[in-house]
Amino acid sequence: MSVWAVLAAAGSGERLGADRPKAFVRLGERPLLAESLERLDASGWVDEIVVAAPPGWEEPVILLAEELGCSKVSSCVTGGKTRGESVRLALAEVPDDAAVVLVHDAARPLVDDEVIERVVTALGEGWEGAVPALPVADTIKRVEGEQVVETLDRDGLRIVQTPQAFVAHVLRAALAGDVSGASDCASVVEAAGGRVKVVPGDPRLLKITDAADLERTAALLVA
Ligand code: CTP
Ligand code: MG
Repeated sequence: MSVWAVLAAAGSGERLGADRPKAFVRLGERPLLAESLERLDASGWVDEIVVAAPPGWEEPVILLAEELGCSKVSSCVTGGKTRGESVRLALAEVPDDAAVVLVHDAARPLVDDEVIERVVTALGEGWEGAVPALPVADTIKRVEGEQVVETLDRDGLRIVQTPQAFVAHVLRAALAGDVSGASDCASVVEAAGGRVKVVPGDPRLLKITDAADLERTAALLVA
């Protein structure tokens, strides 16, 4: 069973506000992308990797992969306008005989083998997709303007992360439609009727959105 990883790294990182795309902002001594790239490459669960790069940054992505000795990187594509489009463009480089696609955001650098194992093995149980998730600690309310309209039951809610694993042909079919509004791949698969399992996530898989997230993750890296 071949597992192809798609690494979504094409975002501009507007909220981080750096002088370069988020994937190339420093985390410790290295570009942010180095962390997830090296970890996916080292994973025994991953066979090949396709990276979606920010427009104009394809060459630096390939150089970085070479520098790190990431031999599983098979290609690098120019990303699209949205995350969904970037994943779709990268998926076009995944061969038809690939069984599983693991989609991961470069914005979550601290991916490890255990969470990859949890999502990939769920597919062996017959699920069409699997996502890592954490319980919700805060109370979540739905609002309209300034007014609270509803308090949701947090027992039934989860914070969902990447990496997310999918049966390759299921993801391909789901991404063929309109993906512009999707914030993750599982939502597109769910909307197409796919059965997606939730497995335990990892609190270290923080998503880097702003400068404070970068500091928190850098602290975890040296801990
Ligand atoms: N992403 C992508 N292609 C896009 C937009 C996002 O591959 N057109 C990727 C990002 O590189 C990131 C992940 O999707 O790894 C999650 O996106 P997000 O955290 O929103 O990153 P950015 O879009 O770069 O940040 P911002 O929204 O602040 O501009
Ligand atoms: Mg974004």
